[in-house]
Amino acid sequence: NVDQTRDKLRITITAGPTREPLDPVRYLSNHSSGKMGFALAEAAVQQGADVTLISGPVHLPTPEGVTRLDVDTAEQMLDAVLKALPSTHMLIGCAAVADYRAATVAEHKIKKQSQNGDELTLHLVKNPDIIATAAARGQAKFVVGFAAETQDVEAYAEDKLIRKKLNAIVANDVSDPTIGFGSDENRVTLLSRRGEHIIRQPLPQASKAALSDTLIQQLISLYDQHHSS
Ligand code: PMT
Repeated sequence: NVDQTRDKLRITITAGPTREPLDPVRYLSNHSSGKMGFALAEAAVQQGADVTLISGPVHLPTPEGVTRLDVDTAEQMLDAVLKALPSTHMLIGCAAVADYRAATVAEHKIKKQSQNGDELTLHLVKNPDIIATAAARGQAKFVVGFAAETQDVEAYAEDKLIRKKLNAIVANDVSDPTIGFGSDENRVTLLSRRGEHIIRQPLPQASKAALSDTLIQQLISLYDQHHSS
């Protein structure tokens, strides 16, 4: 029961990994392919939303009707999200943002060290948390996170939902290679707030495309409930 009377919903989605340079030829990153975030973008357009997709480096075509912005690093992704925020109703953070980046990016290729034996120490600093920063600004009306976990999936997801002050979070067990990074299918649990309570909705395993249709429907309906209450 989607509210037909409200304005066209504007949804911003982050997708893919971020890439944090160490020197001109190396970087830190992760295995996110962008498939889940791109599938969400496609589903959101099909369900009538205006969609901005802010993506890290991936090898995927842009879904039809989606406005795509490409970034590399977490800091660039944060900038792009903050620019999109004032015209965003719903922000969905599906990107696998690198938690840390190099404290300084070496100007030249890091050479093998002759001192320190076979060890190299990298000095890393924490990246900004994009969805927590966005939620704290209060400009997007509804902020949704993902939680990629390998153990105690729902407990950690619930902790992130509360700590990052999100409206909902999608718990993704990435210990199972058929439903996480790079896979064509996924199985998740949607956690959302109803007053003081947290509602859990397990969604069955399906292609990322089919699962995204269900997730976007559920999220739009949660958004409409949130704004009618
Ligand atoms: O891209 P695919 O190959 O299709 O894989 C999909 C996926 C496994 C990447 C996706 O389903 C998923 O789980 N995405 C979240 C990945 C992640 O980094 O989760 P997290 O638990 O570390 O982060 C929690 C939330 O905070 C996420 O919404 C993340 O986007 C956000 N975050 C994290 C760190 C940070 N510095 N800024 C953030 O906004």
